[in-house]
Amino acid sequence: MSLTYSASRDELVEYDKQHLWHPFTQMKEWTDGTPLLIARGEGNYLVDVDGKRYLDGVSSLWANIHGHGRTEINEAIASQLQELAHSTLLGLSHPSAALLAHRLAQLTPGDLRWAFYSESGSTAVEIAIKMAFQYWQNLGRKKKTRFMSLREGYHGDTIGAVSVGGIDLFHQVYGPLLFNGVKAPCPYRYCQENDIPLERGTERLAAEVDALMTAYADETAAFILEPLVQGAGGILPFPPGLLKRIEELCRRYDVLLIADEVAVGFGRTGTMFACEQESVVPDFMCLGKGITGGYLPLAATMTTQRIYDGFWGDYQELKTFFHGHTYTGNPLACAAALASLDLFQTDKTIENLPPKIARIEAGLDRLAEGEQVGDVRQRGMMAGVELVRDRAGNSAYPVEERIGHKVCMAVRKHGVILRNLGDTVVLMPLLSLTIEELDRIFDALENAIREVCG
Ligand SMILES: Cc1ncc(COP(=O)(O)O)c(C=O)c1O
Repeated sequence: MSLTYSASRDELVEYDKQHLWHPFTQMKEWTDGTPLLIARGEGNYLVDVDGKRYLDGVSSLWANIHGHGRTEINEAIASQLQELAHSTLLGLSHPSAALLAHRLAQLTPGDLRWAFYSESGSTAVEIAIKMAFQYWQNLGRKKKTRFMSLREGYHGDTIGAVSVGGIDLFHQVYGPLLFNGVKAPCPYRYCQENDIPLERGTERLAAEVDALMTAYADETAAFILEPLVQGAGGILPFPPGLLKRIEELCRRYDVLLIADEVAVGFGRTGTMFACEQESVVPDFMCLGKGITGGYLPLAATMTTQRIYDGFWGDYQELKTFFHGHTYTGNPLACAAALASLDLFQTDKTIENLPPKIARIEAGLDRLAEGEQVGDVRQRGMMAGVELVRDRAGNSAYPVEERIGHKVCMAVRKHGVILRNLGDTVVLMPLLSLTIEELDRIFDALENAIREVCG
């Protein structure tokens, strides 16, 4: 059965241009262009209203895992819908929320065993920030009110998440609204600026964090980071071992660790969770995006018994976590998440990644030979291709040229959807993409770079 719309294609375009304000979009540019209206998803492809097919090279904003229109997830949502579309977790519970909490507790590392639901990565982070803050307040450690984070970090768009973010382009304008925190260097940029090969940057960076801990740990509630890869900062990988060193420093200085796995979780770095790769068990793990296989909005902030116990007491002690949203733990989204976790097992999603990761590496090596490619970066299934005007002189394109954006528009003509972060083109393929489809993405990108950059 296909949907029918009460408007023609041209009317839809008109309604979009007249009434729909798009996220992270300069609307002047949008209004001048022709919007691509996606009508359907079929496996690894998105299909527009005219029937043209595009490979989904960014997993529909880093969320889709197993492909679009997977019967197993569709049916799970439909079955749940027959029973209950929504009630509330305030004062009530429901089977899918309880089942999923149990599954997530089993799946996440160490003693992360409590799941607090919300609807987006931003809210998962907001909850971790508020919980970490209140944990210390409940314990009487009133001075521990600040947050440490990394430059070029991205944790979402709500004000708390922006406060711990570090991308000037997105965050600077809100400066007066934000709470004051402590910023540690961006690991990748620090290595670049100090001419240190990434593999050898760990000790120097750990020393920088150690110095900040010495100065600020007494007043710091938590350190928040994106484990292994800073995604929205431009796919910026960590030096090996740094995540573990930061965990150790957090333990030594009694600072809680928040691992924001919203982007890197659910297989993107090659393991179910990025923290696993360095045997790190944070105090909070924020999950979003891929948690439902990319089908419905859901997020979970996982935490430990220690944190949970900090909120335990008689009502009049006022230690309760007074936080919750109307759609917290929505049953349809929980059902989608359970079906997605099943697919990880039946499809052997993680086990099948190594050849795909190797193919991405080979594709990047090939692209890196191009004159206009200044840097290529990869961690598992996450990759970034940074375009520069002149590689030898290491000079960037002027911002107004919008080269990254132009290349992504050109890629579309080759039947592939990609998105840029500035002049870095991001490749975040569905984990279900085949080797042949990966090759098609690289061919399309290579052609587009040649067409746009010459
Ligand atoms: C690491 C990280 N945290 C949080 C978020 C925010 O997630 P959402 O857009 O679902 O609010 C993102 C989104 O890109 C992210 O990459």
